Formats: sequence, C-alpha cells, structure tokens
Amino acid sequence: MTLRASPDPVSADLLRRAVAALRDGLLVAFPTETVYGLGADASSVTALARLYRVKGRPASHPVIVHLADVEQLPLWARDIPPEAYRLAEAFWPGPMTLVLRSGAAVLPAVTGGQDTVGLRIPGHPLARNLITAFDGGIAAPSANRFGRLSPTTAEDVAAELGDDVAMVLDGGPCQVGIESTIIDLSAGAPRILRPGMLLASEIEAVLGKGAEAPGKHKSADANGSAAPRVPGGLPSHYAPDTPLVLVTPAELGEAVGRALAGGRVVAVLSFRAPADVNLPEALTLPAGTPWVTACPDAGAYAAQLYRQLRHLDRQRCDAIFVELPPDEPSWQGILDRLRRAAAPRP
Ligand code: TXA
Ligand code: MG
Repeated sequence: MTLRASPDPVSADLLRRAVAALRDGLLVAFPTETVYGLGADASSVTALARLYRVKGRPASHPVIVHLADVEQLPLWARDIPPEAYRLAEAFWPGPMTLVLRSGAAVLPAVTGGQDTVGLRIPGHPLARNLITAFDGGIAAPSANRFGRLSPTTAEDVAAELGDDVAMVLDGGPCQVGIESTIIDLSAGAPRILRPGMLLASEIEAVLGKGAEAPGKHKSADANGSAAPRVPGGLPSHYAPDTPLVLVTPAELGEAVGRALAGGRVVAVLSFRAPADVNLPEALTLPAGTPWVTACPDAGAYAAQLYRQLRHLDRQRCDAIFVELPPDEPSWQGILDRLRRAAAPRP
C-alpha cells in the first residue's frame, strides 16, 4: 500500500516540549498513519504505570513499542528471524506491527509479562520526528480508553482523554484509519494476530509463503499453552456506546424499517444514499436521520470509518445500522473491526 506523505505542521519548539514531557514520564498523544497513539517512555516504569492508568487497560495486556529505525530492533528483541527483516524492509515505516521474542531489558509493563514484544516503525512524519528526537522507544497503544474506538484526529483524542494527556500533537486525520496489521514471528510460522490494511496477500508476497490467518489459536495452541494476549482480540472491542448492528445489503431496508416501526431512532452507515434503500411499505425515514453514505473503496472506507462511527455515536440514537462490506481480502481488517464493534458487550 502507498501512503501520501503529509506535511509536518508541528514546530521544532512543540517537538522539544513533547520530548521533555516524555522524559518527565508524562503522556504525549501523537499521530501515526493508522490511528493516534498515546505515547509514554517505554523504558520508564512510572510512565508506563501512568499509561495503563489513563488508558484503563488491564496490566496484563501488552503495548506496542514504536521505534524510529530498524537498527534499534536488537535493543528490544532477540532471536530475530530473517522474516522480520524482510517484512521490515518491505513495509516499514508503515502500518505493520511485528511480535518478536522480547529482549532481556524490556519491562514487563511493555510485554504484559509475556516473553514477546510488539514493535512498530510508523510512517507518519510527525511520529518519526518525535521518536527520533526522543531517541528511545515510545510505548503507545491507541489513544482511546480501553475498549473504545481508536481516535483518528487530534480533536477526537482531546475529547477522549482531556487533561489526562500532557500534549496532543496534531498531524491531521490518519490516512489508514484502522490499527496496524499485527504479525507474530515469535514462534514458528508467521501468523496474523490482527488483520489491517496491510493485507495477507502483501505479506505472503514478501515471505513467499502464507501467514496463518487470525482466528486460529485463539485461546490455546496445540501444546495447550496460551496464545499471545491481544486486547483487540476480545470480541467486544473498538466499540461505540450506541449498539451497532451489522446487516447485509439485502437486509438493510427491512432491518431499518423494523426498528422505525418499533419507535426506535436509528443511524445508518451504508454504501447507498437513503433514497436507494427500500424501506418496507408505508414507512419513510424521519427527516434528520443520521445517515452516512460510505465510500465503496476499502482504503477510503477505512480512513473514515472511526471518524464516521464517532459522529454517528454522538447522535445518541438507539442503534447504528451498518451495511456489511463485501467479504473480500481487502476488507478483512475493516470486517474484523466492524464485527468486534457489533459484538455483545460484557
Ligand atoms: O496501529 C496501531 O497498531 C496503533 C498505533 C498507535 O500504533 N496501536 C494500537 O495499539 O493499536 P493497541 O495497544 O491499542 O493495540 C495493540 C495490540 C493489542 O491488541 C496488543 O495486545 C497487541 O497489539 N500486542 C502488543 N504487544 C503484543 C505482544 N507482545 N504479543 C501479542 N500482542 C501484542
Ligand atoms: Mg487499541
């Protein structure tokens, strides 16, 4: 996939303040091309404790460490297989995270107490400038509270985290829009732990062999040992507050009609305009019904998905109906996030 380079609107002074904040153990939110990250010094126990507190994330869940250069890999990982360098060469900087066996000095707060570490070199120029100036690894989960939608604009980060974050660096809207593809290279055959906009076929083209798809080894592998914990792997994750209902294109009119007939207020994310969706006889869509007509291109759809879901969520409707995208390779990351957003809440 190709990414348009976006201009860096942050001044050298702001960057210096951001680095100083990180060195003080404070949190700095910054843009990556996938989603905004909530950054903390990955080698500071106190900074990581603050990160987990603000994020509201259970301590056993690992965070991704963001690096500026592939030469830093051996500082964070050991037994790095050649596949890691091949993938790094092809897709970094970019929307890919590699899970490798963790280096001896990596803090348990980063790994969640496992012996693996997630590493990523993001491509957004502002992220790269920040990490380079910081001169160390920046631990950064998505800049949302645990279980909620990842933010893709600086405004969404500020609305989500308020004063709990020292600074929010504004790099404009994220161009990929959903979280990185996570590939586990820590044990045998490569496997995709979380699909994203870097596709399985692109990974396969570089490795010369397939990577195991997500969904396998969910709870335990053949030896009975637990698979790596991926909080994004919980069924109900990346979710708006409003219940989200996934419907096929054929079902959409009927499902919206039934909800309206039952007196419910609906919001819709569809590939079609309201006039092109047939409601059951005698029903019309109330004026002002929040309706987003989505782009049929997977890349453009992903780039806007979270911003549009946040918009529909703010309308305080009874349900958000989302028309299912095609079950094709380029839509797998999007389908994964939509299914999780639609899953029953705990
Ligand atoms: O695009 C992204 O990946 C964004 C940007 C900010 O880089 N980050 C992100 O972080 O989505 P987070 O923490 O929201 O999700 C990271 C995922 C989690 O599902 C976590 O479990 C998984 O990466 N992860 C991190 N380290 C891991 C490890 N050692 N083994 C398995 N999964 C790991
Ligand atoms: Mg997240």
